[in-house]
Amino acid sequence: MSAPTDEGEGQSLERVPQALSTREAWLDPFDWYAEMREEQPVRYDQNRQCWDVFRYEDVDRILDDPETFSSNPRLASAIDLPPEAEQSPILETMLTADGERHGRLRGVVEDWFRPRAITQRAERFEDIAADLLEDAIDGGRMDLIDDFAYPFPVIVIAELLGVPSEDRPQFRGWSETLVETPTDTSEAALEAFRQRQEQASEELAEYFEAKLEDRARDSKDDLISVIAEAAGEERLSHEEALGFCMLLLVAGNITTTNLIGNAMRCLTAHPAAMERVRTGEAPIESTIEEVLRYRSPVQALARIATRDVELQGMSIEEGDTVVPWLGSANRDPAVFDAPDQFRVDRAPNPHFGFGRGTHYCLGAPLARMEARIGLNALFERTADVRPGGERLQPVRSAFIYGVQELPIEFRPRD
Ligand code: HEM
Repeated sequence: MSAPTDEGEGQSLERVPQALSTREAWLDPFDWYAEMREEQPVRYDQNRQCWDVFRYEDVDRILDDPETFSSNPRLASAIDLPPEAEQSPILETMLTADGERHGRLRGVVEDWFRPRAITQRAERFEDIAADLLEDAIDGGRMDLIDDFAYPFPVIVIAELLGVPSEDRPQFRGWSETLVETPTDTSEAALEAFRQRQEQASEELAEYFEAKLEDRARDSKDDLISVIAEAAGEERLSHEEALGFCMLLLVAGNITTTNLIGNAMRCLTAHPAAMERVRTGEAPIESTIEEVLRYRSPVQALARIATRDVELQGMSIEEGDTVVPWLGSANRDPAVFDAPDQFRVDRAPNPHFGFGRGTHYCLGAPLARMEARIGLNALFERTADVRPGGERLQPVRSAFIYGVQELPIEFRPRD
């Protein structure tokens, strides 16, 4: 993982705090969170130039007040975006928009992601999972990430968008580059990293540019057509339309891959819990919620203060970057009973796994359904699932949390 540079320049989410900069610490950051919740619940990180916020009540307050805590990185005083990045479509999405603009953007696709609309597609998603597992479950061993947790959500989102799922090796490269955190923070390496990110962003934009043009001429029953239509009616600018496609592709795959991966990491570490879920004694739904809490695929968000504001006695100034740590709030003993225990039937479970407030994850119903279908499909076809490797590597990102590979061993079931 990254080690912060001396100069302390750069965007807060590009880098993890020093305390989490080793492989072990970023695989299990929870002891450090506990220490911070207790001793420095709101602290300024000089290297990353941002405020870290660890307690549930403060994370809640930040997400609940988008007027004071904006999602627009352009308002940050510590972030000097290079001119190319200023124009990047990826900054023209609902994720980084506030107020009315946010509502207008989110409204374009909202209907597609409602639980009822998503549920209608369940059968198709089950077929996709079955096809993938037919190939993967052969010799009693697989890499859960490469063989299943990665391709499954990508095929799903590619179908919803209306792009060929065979292009998925490219999607993976682009998505991973866009959420990556630099491992080497020397000047030259950072520059190369920025160029890589820029190139990925340009290539992704070019890819969707062609698709949007195609759908503007010939509309189909897919999300790109919905976005092309909104652009045609000038409800979206050209950059916003491109950013939309890019956001849905990236947000819709890496996060869900890590939800499924983290679920199996939790369950293989807790075989008795896995047995209860497999036999239906514990509901799969509450199990998924518990994974979202216990090993949240998104550990941290970023907001910019739009005015001077006080939090736990600390004075945050207008333009300061604030990082609410969802992964820490989700382990706060003030809210969760025995927070470091993985309890598949935990209730209530008011976790922040999908965020909260106006930016609450648009894809939550889809992600939940994919995880449910994916895990059930695995349970139906395997028994005695065990970890198949020792040395896990964390995903290279300062806010996305998961493992790069997850070898598992099992007995195939007929
Ligand atoms: C927003 C997590 C899957 C699309 C968010 C946010 C979180 C999150 C924490 C809040 C961001 C913020 O407040 O700044 C997750 C997790 C997922 C997942 C953990 C899987 C387990 C998906 C999927 C899609 C999606 C499948 C669909 C394509 C979005 C979008 C937003 C968002 C568009 C922005 C919403 C807005 O700004 O109004 N997600 N997400 N996500 N997510 Fe997800």
